[in-house]
Amino acid sequence: MMTQGLQTVSYIAASILFILSLGGLSNQESAKRGNLYGIIGMILAILATALGETTQGHGILIAVMLVASGIGIVVAQKVEMTSMPQLVAILHSFVGLAAVLVGYGSYLDEATQSMTGAAHSIHLVEVYLGIFIGALTFTGSVIAWGKLQGTIKSSPLQYPGRHFINIAFVVISGFVLIKFLGADDTSKGVTYLLVMTGISSILGVLLVMAIGGADMPVVVSMLNSYSGWAAAAAGFMLSNDLLIVTGALVGSSGAILSYIMCKAMNRSFFSVIFGGIGQTSSSTPAAAITGEVKPITSEETCDLLKEARKIVIVPGYGMATAKAQYSINEMVNKLTAQGKEVTFAIHPVAGRLPGHMNVLLAEANISYDIVHEMDEVNPELPETDVVMVIGANDIVNPSAMEDAGSPIYGMPVIEVWKAKHVIVSKRSMAAGYAGVENPLFYKDNTRMLYGDAKKSVDALISSL
Ligand code: TAP
Repeated sequence: MMTQGLQTVSYIAASILFILSLGGLSNQESAKRGNLYGIIGMILAILATALGETTQGHGILIAVMLVASGIGIVVAQKVEMTSMPQLVAILHSFVGLAAVLVGYGSYLDEATQSMTGAAHSIHLVEVYLGIFIGALTFTGSVIAWGKLQGTIKSSPLQYPGRHFINIAFVVISGFVLIKFLGADDTSKGVTYLLVMTGISSILGVLLVMAIGGADMPVVVSMLNSYSGWAAAAAGFMLSNDLLIVTGALVGSSGAILSYIMCKAMNRSFFSVIFGGIGQTSSSTPAAAITGEVKPITSEETCDLLKEARKIVIVPGYGMATAKAQYSINEMVNKLTAQGKEVTFAIHPVAGRLPGHMNVLLAEANISYDIVHEMDEVNPELPETDVVMVIGANDIVNPSAMEDAGSPIYGMPVIEVWKAKHVIVSKRSMAAGYAGVENPLFYKDNTRMLYGDAKKSVDALISSL
């Protein structure tokens, strides 16, 4: 058993480790260390809680932890990189559900029933808010999971009076809170809690159903933030300082990440979170595309690459689905062995989750030194001989800069068309995630290398 003092010290150490972990994750080189800090912090946190003086029922606790850890290990090993957003979404739903259960447990706990005065009112508000945010996070995350997995249609559910209905639900919840605070016995209190849980569960469904598939990663990050606040609320209910600190860390980092993602897509935060507001940002019709699409063979691509001195590779979601990163690494090694300067250009929202491309390239052992951010690469593109766009689409769409009528107008993009030659590896002329046409494919200096990205790159490797 751990004394209260030792537990507090362990909690402080774990909090520091979590903060160091977040700091480490901000940079590729230190990300492994950051992960390690997080793991050690979490082990410390679990041990300090499980061995605490007030903790009982160790038999059940250990059994549950073993089963849950087993499931966690299997799921983490099996998950494909492309299914990561779904996994994250469903994990958030568990945090939400946990906050709901802790809320009910804490309300019904005899120890809290004897509270009086202001302490009692504050506790009741904590319970109410914890359950409200928890239930909303739970159902919202389940819907986000469904949309990402494809079990629920990804198009936004729009209906008249949507925002009014949502606001009405929040107002009714506020009214129920007043009734809950005035409830004179537990059974009445539980009834009010159940009513609110129902309302907030429906609200979670409605809020996320209203958002289109393309905005889902932002929503997942936002739900991540909510799950943090739900955990912090649970921390207040349980008087557990570590849970409060951890919840606040998750809550604020999720909110910051959502903001960064919105900025990178040139979307307003509120238009994403409330789905639909300002979705059609312009009344100008999209400009007609002129030019001709010119395919290129693997041999011709190889000739262009052999002549080139400076080559930039722009990976996108298609590289992830084709799992082409290993082949790309091999191709890059061949090209650098031939004395060529090869670098990667990473768009902040390439793929489907923040850092998606960086993780895949690191997985294939591609050196961090040649992986550059969009802002570093854009000024160098006019001096680049060949840009290879591999499975990317929206992030290299010139309409974002040139066509005020385009839905993605204003989003910063990698200006690949400024290079001497552009080769686009994709399977067809299909649009990207934003569903908009890409005039890049019709430009004079662009050639289309049709086919699966991995197969195309493999063919290039043998010719090189
Ligand atoms: P997308 O615009 O989705 O384009 C990917 C392209 O890859 C598709 O046009 C597809 O064309 C091609 N592709 C698919 N499978 C392929 C395969 N096996 N081999 C070769 N090509 C393949 O991807 P992007 O350029 O990476 O842009 C990301 C999009 O997601 C942006 O719109 C961004 O705003 C959005 N988004 C991203 C995030 C984050 S955080 N990353 C968050 C929210 C939204 P074919 O079907 O013709 O092959």
